[in-house]
Amino acid sequence: MDLKLTGRRALVTGSSSGIGEAVARMLAREGAAVVVHGRNRDRAGAVATDIGAAGIALGDLSTDEGAAAVHAAAVGALGGNIEILVNNAGGSSTGNTTKTPAEIAIADWLSNYNANALSSVRLAQLAIPAMKDAAFGRIINVSSAVAVQPNNLGSDYSAAKSALNNFTVSLAGSLKGAGITVNTVSPGIIMVDGLIRFARSKFGDPNMSIEDITARLVAAKVFDLPPAGRLGTPEDLAIVICTLASPLSGFVTGANYRVDGGQVRSLN
Ligand SMILES: NC(=O)c1ccc[n+]([C@@H]2O[C@H](COP(=O)([O-])OP(=O)(O)OC[C@H]3O[C@@H](n4cnc5c(N)ncnc54)[C@H](OP(=O)(O)O)[C@@H]3O)[C@@H](O)[C@H]2O)c1
Repeated sequence: MDLKLTGRRALVTGSSSGIGEAVARMLAREGAAVVVHGRNRDRAGAVATDIGAAGIALGDLSTDEGAAAVHAAAVGALGGNIEILVNNAGGSSTGNTTKTPAEIAIADWLSNYNANALSSVRLAQLAIPAMKDAAFGRIINVSSAVAVQPNNLGSDYSAAKSALNNFTVSLAGSLKGAGITVNTVSPGIIMVDGLIRFARSKFGDPNMSIEDITARLVAAKVFDLPPAGRLGTPEDLAIVICTLASPLSGFVTGANYRVDGGQVRSLN
């Protein structure tokens, strides 16, 4: 199926690795002009060269200045306004995995809100005026399964992702008739390189396969397998995000797409 992405201008934040890299790769394969973003020049540059991207944009999206620099660099590299904005950059900025909500420092709540909610708000605010002028835009915010099904730990991260879901619905509603859709995509547990490296080092086997890692983590009760019977891959996210990025997806807005293998037990 032709998603009609040829020539469309896209910025994928956090595309120097993981899910964002897979999204950038698939968008480029579909013919879009893609800007790769990260904080590290070497990592972003390597992906950009590999996929034939239009360029790179570097900056910390936890700050207003960083977001403004990323937006300006992306528009410059694309030679025009951003038509497809994939707000993927994020992850727990504090790595709190053992503290309860009552124990997490206020500074950590603020840090995660900045990195996982306001990062997307900043770029959406910068990109929307030109999208409105062009009467076309696609904004896809990468959230998490824990936004709607939080654990008892790490809630500085999960609550920030909940705010992102909330922002998505409000923003979509506020853009009535503007030709701009805004959606959330919520991954479950995705086997990105960082997680694979972590597991190989934890289990002391640098050559462990993804299947073996999964089996060990399940046996150690780190998590249960979802109904799909496996963990996710970055490409599982990329296909859904590319579909939402398509001009053909104009009737889908304000939605949250779960890409979690059935992990979240919810009717929607
Ligand atoms: N993997 C999962 O299981 C999973 C599950 C649920 C949700 N998610 C969400 O999916 C998204 C991608 O995660 P991933 O697993 O693919 O992670 P990843 O491989 O660690 O990639 C994260 C990307 O985001 C960038 N980034 C992080 N914080 C940033 C900041 N403050 N400013 C600018 N760039 C920043 C990183 O850039 P650098 O190269 O500069 O570090 C990197 O490109 C995140 O929003 C995460 O919360 C992931």
